[in-house]
Amino acid sequence: MSLSRLFSPLRLGRYDLAHRVIMAPLTRMRAGGGNVPNDLAREYYGQRASSGGLIIAEATQISSSAQGYPATPGIHSAAQVEGWKKVTDAVHAKGGFIFLQLWHTGRSSHSSFQPNGALPVAPSPIAIKSGTALTADWKPVPYETPRALELDEIPIIIESYRQGARNALVAGFDGVELHGANGYLIEQFLHTRSNQRTDIYGGSIENRARLLLEVTAALVDVWGADRVGVRMSPFGTYNDVGDADPIALYRHVLTRLAELDVAYAHLIEARDGTSMEIEAPQDVDQLRPFWPKTLILAGGFTGESAEAAIRSGRADAVAFGRWFIANPDLPLRLRLGAPLNPYDRSTFYGGAAAGYVDYPAMKNTQFAV
Ligand code: FNR
Repeated sequence: MSLSRLFSPLRLGRYDLAHRVIMAPLTRMRAGGGNVPNDLAREYYGQRASSGGLIIAEATQISSSAQGYPATPGIHSAAQVEGWKKVTDAVHAKGGFIFLQLWHTGRSSHSSFQPNGALPVAPSPIAIKSGTALTADWKPVPYETPRALELDEIPIIIESYRQGARNALVAGFDGVELHGANGYLIEQFLHTRSNQRTDIYGGSIENRARLLLEVTAALVDVWGADRVGVRMSPFGTYNDVGDADPIALYRHVLTRLAELDVAYAHLIEARDGTSMEIEAPQDVDQLRPFWPKTLILAGGFTGESAEAAIRSGRADAVAFGRWFIANPDLPLRLRLGAPLNPYDRSTFYGGAAAGYVDYPAMKNTQFAV
């Protein structure tokens, strides 16, 4: 199959992308001291940039209390902003675009990351029961029961997102993506399994969606709607989330996001949450009618399935995760139908150069994407 649609241009908000192979946000847990993106990060993102291509940089905490894993980068200190500036410069030098994914982990965090060893915060005091938390010194431990945010603390959280967005602007990003997926704070508020609040942030769909929409409005204030995207995993259950009526919930969310006029929605297709390997029925198609704008899909795509998704109108662009980890020149390889480097799961998280910047690019090619 010719991948002609995957390699056709796409207007995404303010930007003209040259092709539709997007690098998905990928946590690699290799930030330096102070959770600062280091020279390896600059090299890694620079290797993966392509002219007119879009990278969505890894989930990045908006404040120290938003952090939930060791060595994940932040966007709340001057040194972090400086570290990210080197990354965005490297991507721009190759003619690429780069958005930053803004992250608050909520109850997935652990007290070892929290100022004064406090408990992590969440919509409700319900612990994650499956899997384990990682402490600041990389030890797997059971998740703690989080502390429910007080109503008057929620504006402070929204302000942290706003400040993260401002810092991302200073760091030279081209836009921001709200991390509203994979069981972190925003999704903890959205879903019935993790939100049992009785105030204006819990109960009805309108109330559970309120935080996502208020945070998105804050990002739009800083960046303009045409440089803001929102990532969601409507049918995901990773981190013990799940909603009683996802179609109704996301119908509401997507309708309101369309009114805010954000540049894109980015949906992860349902899959087994723990291994991220098994593909489940493609329920996201049921949400397509509620989203009139640009739609990015992610989850288990190949070049051919991405092309088919775009041809059929299921998606406008496709984000690739694991294949982008292993193939710095993934767009070029897909375009040429070249073989892909296999990925090594053991080096996904933590470590240094191995499995990060040492996957080889193709040699001796005169083609460019
Ligand atoms: C992820 N994923 C992810 N998602 C997200 O929104 N923010 C993140 O920081 C991360 N981090 C991350 C790290 C690693 C090592 C993996 C494998 C995955 C999910 C990722 O963006 C993508 O949705 C999935 O990997 C599915 O796409 P692929 O890998 O099948 O193309």
